[in-house]
Formats: sequence, structure tokens, C-alpha cells
Amino acid sequence: MAEKTFFRMRLINKYYPMGDEKVHVLKDVNLDIEKGEYLSVLGPSGSGKSTLMNIIGCLDVASSGTYMLEGDAIDLLEEDELAHIRSGKIGFIFQNSQLLPRLTALKNVELPLIYSGVSPSKRRKRAESILKRVGLEDRMDHYPNQLSGGQQQRVAIARALVTNPSLLLADEPTGALDQKTGRQIMQLFRELNAEGRTIIMITHDMNIAAYAHRVVHIIDGELTEEGGENSAGNA
Ligand SMILES: Nc1ncnc2c1ncn2[C@@H]1O[C@H](COP(=O)(O)OP(=O)(O)OP(=O)(O)O)[C@@H](O)[C@H]1O
Ligand SMILES: [Mg+2]
Repeated sequence: MAEKTFFRMRLINKYYPMGDEKVHVLKDVNLDIEKGEYLSVLGPSGSGKSTLMNIIGCLDVASSGTYMLEGDAIDLLEEDELAHIRSGKIGFIFQNSQLLPRLTALKNVELPLIYSGVSPSKRRKRAESILKRVGLEDRMDHYPNQLSGGQQQRVAIARALVTNPSLLLADEPTGALDQKTGRQIMQLFRELNAEGRTIIMITHDMNIAAYAHRVVHIIDGELTEEGGENSAGNA
């Protein structure tokens, strides 16, 4: 029997309608990722990184092409099925940590588990253990505005990890941080990857991209493998 593909994109195109015209943002993107890989997508502003991240994260769908994630044909799914994949398989880390200001660190981290129907006592235990994992055991009852930028980002990472997703997806995770704090976050990503998590990190900063084990470049909606000529992966 064929091995279940972890991640495969083929000929992904994305167009946005603009009046009577359409903007061609992703162009025949091919990408294969194996379980446990740590991949960075490096490209300048406007190259299509967030558009790609939204499609990878099942927050948006491509205009054409195929996308398989852990055996599911994502391009064939309806919105409620996409929501199910998102909450079960994907952990998101956004550029600005996007924590809810009226919830403590602990409650922010518990949130994804509420959506997936986990009991309150289990939620709390799981959120506490993940916050410990990111070094915030003494900050669990702080509200976001009582935390430093790097601490907020670690809460966001904990929130992304709490459902134990098979894919961790990060859009400019160090974008708002100073260099030293950025390096700490990158150290944490390395550890998470060493534990077997698959990570896709999107960045415009080649110094940050270098922390990943594999780098693909996106320029004007076209993806190329570092050292290769064509679209990433084997077509
Ligand atoms: N809803 C939309 N309608 C029309 N054009 C869009 C839309 N969203 C994005 N675009 C265009 O698609 C291109 C890619 O945008 P995207 O947000 O993916 O870039 P990015 O690589 O993430 O850039 P940045 O590094 O600045 O975040 C841009 O030229 C943008 O203007
Ligand atoms: Mg972006």
C-alpha cells in the first residue's frame, strides 16, 4: 500500500478578483513536505507568502490545483470540513501574537481546546503543561498587556501547540521581536522540530529562514527550492 502523503501541493494557483481584472498571486506552486521536516518559505513583501500560508492552513482555498494533507484532499473539502482540519491538525502562529486581551495567558492557551470540546479540567492541565514547556509557568495568570513581546509570542506558540497539531504554521513569528528574543523563539522552534513536529515558517528575513533545515523561495508568486531551478519538490 502506498505511504500516506504528509503534504503535497500540485499546480496551486491563486487569483484575487480586482474589479474586472484578476491578480495572479500564486503561480503553479508545487510543494512536497515530509513528516518531521522544518521548512522555511522565504520571500519579499507582496510575494504571496501569507496567501500561501492561508491556503496551507485551510483558511482559504486555491483557485486551482491540488492539496493533500495527511491523506485528506483539502481542495475538495467544504468549509465545515476545512474548519475540522484546522482545529485538529494545524497550529497557527501569527506575526502579531493575536492573543485575546481580556483573557489570561492560561485562558488564551485553553481556547482552542474549548472549540474542540475538551473538558475544563483536562483543558487546564494541558494548557498548564504547554505553558511550562515554553518557560511561562510563572506567568500563567498574567494578561497579555502584562507580558513582554517575547512572552506574548511564547503564549501564542503554546496556544498553537495545545491541540497537539501535526503541522505548525508560523507567519513571521519573530517579526515583532528584538534579535535576542527572536533567537530564543528560533531555539524553541528547533526543539519542537527535534521532538518530531513538522514546521512551516514564513519569513522575509534570510537570517531567520536559516534556522530551518530546508528553505524554499517565493518571488512574485513562484516557488523555487534553494539550489534547484524549478518548483519545490518532485513534480
Ligand atoms: N484580497 C486581495 N485582493 C487582491 N489582491 C490581494 C489580496 N490579498 C493579497 N493581494 C495581493 O497579493 C499579493 C501577495 O500578498 P501576500 O499578503 O500574500 O504577500 P506577503 O508575501 O505575505 O507580503 P508581506 O511580507 O508584506 O506580508 C500582493 O501583491 C497583494 O497586493
Ligand atoms: Mg504576509
